[in-house]
This record gives sequence, C-alpha cells and structure tokens, in this order.
Amino acid sequence: MTDPPDVARAVLALRRGGLVAFPTETVYGLGADATADAALVRLYEVKRRPADHPVILHLAADAALDDWAASVPPVARDLAARFWPGPLTIVLPASDRVSRVATGGLDTVGLRIPDHPLALDLLAAFDGAIAAPSANRFGRVSPTTAGAVVRDLGTDVDVVLDGGTCVVGVESTIVDCTGARLAVLRVGGVTVEELTDVLDAPPALGGTTPAPGTLAAHYAPNARVELVTLDTLVAEAAALADGGRRVGVVGLAPELAAAELPASLVPLARPVDAIAYAHDLYAALREADELGLDVVLAIAPPPVGIGAAVADRLGRAARGH
Ligand code: TXA
Ligand code: MG
Repeated sequence: MTDPPDVARAVLALRRGGLVAFPTETVYGLGADATADAALVRLYEVKRRPADHPVILHLAADAALDDWAASVPPVARDLAARFWPGPLTIVLPASDRVSRVATGGLDTVGLRIPDHPLALDLLAAFDGAIAAPSANRFGRVSPTTAGAVVRDLGTDVDVVLDGGTCVVGVESTIVDCTGARLAVLRVGGVTVEELTDVLDAPPALGGTTPAPGTLAAHYAPNARVELVTLDTLVAEAAALADGGRRVGVVGLAPELAAAELPASLVPLARPVDAIAYAHDLYAALREADELGLDVVLAIAPPPVGIGAAVADRLGRAARGH
C-alpha cells in the first residue's frame, strides 16, 4: 500500500520536473507535468518514444475540460459525464496551456480522468494535468503492476506509486471528437457497444489522426506471439516443441479445456471470460519473457465487448516481430 507521504513525494517530484509512475484502472502510467517542456522531453527519452507520438493528459476528478481543451463539443461533454472517471480518452483541440511536447506537435490533445483512487489522490494533490503514456519502453508490453514498472524502467523513474494490480488490464479506448463524425482511434476499456449506446450514431472505427497505439506492431514481448485457433493449436504446439522451441499458451479456459494440450506447453493464462482475459493478458506476456519462452500461442477471444481490445492487442503483439 502507498502512504499519503508517497503522494506528497510524487507531487514534489512532478513539480521539480521529475517522472512519477502511478497506477490507473487500465495500466500504469509514467507521468510528467503536462505544462513542463523539459520534464516531457525527459519522459520521451526514458520511454524511447518518437517525439511525434502524443501522450494522454490525466486530469483530476474536478478538472475543467475547458482548461485543457480549446473547444469542447456537446458530444465530448456527454461522453465525459458518462464515462469519467474511467477508461476513455477523449481527443479535442488543445488549449494553449498544454505543452506541444506532450501532443507530439499536434494541436489536439487526448484527455481522461482515470478511475483509480491513488491516481485521483495524486491528481487532486498535484492540481494540474499529468501527461502519461503507459510506463513501459516504447513498443513493449504495458505494465499492470508496480513491480513490472520497476523491472522495465528501473532507476529512470523518480517515484513509483504502488496501487496494486490494474483492474481493467488493457489501455483506455480513444475517441477523436475533433472531426465531423466521432472516431474510435483505439479500442480499450470502454467497449464500442457502450459508446454506441450513448451516441446517436455508431462511431467510425479507426481515424485519420495518427495514433501510435494504432501502430500495426506494438505491445510485444520478446517471445514471438502467434495467433492460433482451437483447431490449429495442438498441431502447432507439437511442431514447435519438435523444433526445440519452448512454448506457452493463452486462451479462454472453456476453449483450452476442450483441447488435448501437450504436457510441454506452458499455460500462461486461462481466463474464464473476456474481462478476465483483458485483466490477465499483459501479465501472461511478461511471464513468457520471464520464463524465457520462445513462442506464445494465443487464441483470441471473440471480438465483442472488451474482447475486441484483447483481440486487437494480441494481433499487434503478433505483428511485433
Ligand atoms: O489507458 C491508457 O490510456 C494508459 C493509461 C496510463 O492512461 N495510457 C496509454 O498511453 O496507453 P500511451 O502513450 O501508451 O498511448 C497513448 C495513445 C497513443 O496511441 C496516442 O497516439 C494516443 O493515445 N493519443 C494521445 N493524444 C492523441 C491525439 N492528440 N490524437 C490522437 N491520438 C492521441
Ligand atoms: Mg503504451
């Protein structure tokens, strides 16, 4: 558990231009003051993130959208009212206060209020916006525990706040509200079905705005991720084992239970449903690396609800090599 003094220490670090890792309901973020250019330059260096890839600004629960967005269409206010605090990032025209280092040079900004008590305590105490990408090196698997942050970033972070394991486990959904039609740039913690419920028309999927979480290859462990089906799993596992490869498997428990799995296959995660799959996915990919596995065979969940985000991340991880 994290004591209040840790939040105070984190706020001090942010004010001095430092980097603070903190939990959110989705994944851990690596935070810097969203108005401090030098701190943001260091954030990009530590992440090894290309300078033109924008980061998300995290706001306090009582933040005024208009402080950070230059204009706010009614649909954005509706989405914020319905889904914040929560795993939805809303892209809007950026106000002058937002550092253009944080937006990757764009005049738009992604905003969200995260749904985690420690993040909300930190944001309330900081009284500003915290720019935070996921707390991993660029292109790698996002951390869902404080331990994973420390293993990935080590002493490059000034303060790590430990808020336990992230409840959702995959990143926020990103919606672009700057165009004529609302567009989902990244599927994530808020499902497309939930979004559609509060909109007059279904959102467009994918957008013209560049969003690096949408790079084809991303979220990849060292092990090669291979997508399989229940029909191809056993033969593929056997072929890889014959070739001397060490192989792990992730898939929904009811599906895996239906297969005669070779004993050499390492079970990394057998979640009972798509929500559990999202929760367990990144820990499973990290475990594959900790065990030194060569290949992860993955059966994606049906791409409905949060299963769409899980299938998306697995697809990108599979293209990451
Ligand atoms: O759940 C999350 O969103 C986590 C936690 C820490 O909040 N953050 C996260 O950040 O996943 P990151 O940097 O790994 O991914 C941020 C995504 C990128 O795909 C980026 O392109 C997109 O947000 N993004 C940020 N600002 C944008 C903008 N102005 N226009 C389009 N995409 C934007
Ligand atoms: Mg990321």
